[in-house]
Amino acid sequence: MSFTRTDFRNALGTFATGVTVVTTCDSQAQPIGVTINSFTSVSLEPPLILFCLGRAANSVQTFSTCPGFAVNVLTEHQEALSSRFATPDSGGRWDGLAVDRSPMGFPILPDCLATLDCRIEARHDGGDHIILIGRVESLSIGVGAAPLLYFRGRYARLGGFDAADPKGWI
Ligand SMILES: Cc1cc2nc3c(=O)[nH]c(=O)nc-3n(C[C@H](O)[C@H](O)[C@H](O)COP(=O)(O)O)c2cc1C
Repeated sequence: MSFTRTDFRNALGTFATGVTVVTTCDSQAQPIGVTINSFTSVSLEPPLILFCLGRAANSVQTFSTCPGFAVNVLTEHQEALSSRFATPDSGGRWDGLAVDRSPMGFPILPDCLATLDCRIEARHDGGDHIILIGRVESLSIGVGAAPLLYFRGRYARLGGFDAADPKGWI
């Protein structure tokens, strides 16, 4: 291998992504949520998406056994929500949030760009991560805001986006 771990991380960080919070419920029906930017589309027919979860995540046990999950796509106004779900949970991760439930019963965060309600299609080994493939059972497209982006280890925003314009772009 001709590169260091830092080189690898830095190279991957040049790929700008959106930011999601993926939610599910644990065996006690308690809400679980994690900030995820490894979300990507997989297939249109059938409708499949995936995300990768680190094996060191506290939620890995729950995501290894849950029947499904919801993907909440964040707007540029939800950076605090992203930080909240990316910080180790000392008990208050859900405090003060007006959480709804998806048709499959997973937690839905308010004011997101879109929400995808998914049944587990497959789980795969992905080195120090697990790869979860979800079949989208239902979805909702929410507010017309600009997305929150993540680039080179920092939050970023789209230039030239006008949420007041029906087409979004100026
Ligand atoms: C923008 C952003 C994107 C992230 N994407 C991922 C990801 O795709 N997979 C992952 O395992 N962790 C990702 N993380 C880190 C997790 O959100 C973080 O480790 C979280 O505390 C895990 O929660 P848990 O330990 O309660 O499961 C991301 C963090 C940030 C800030």
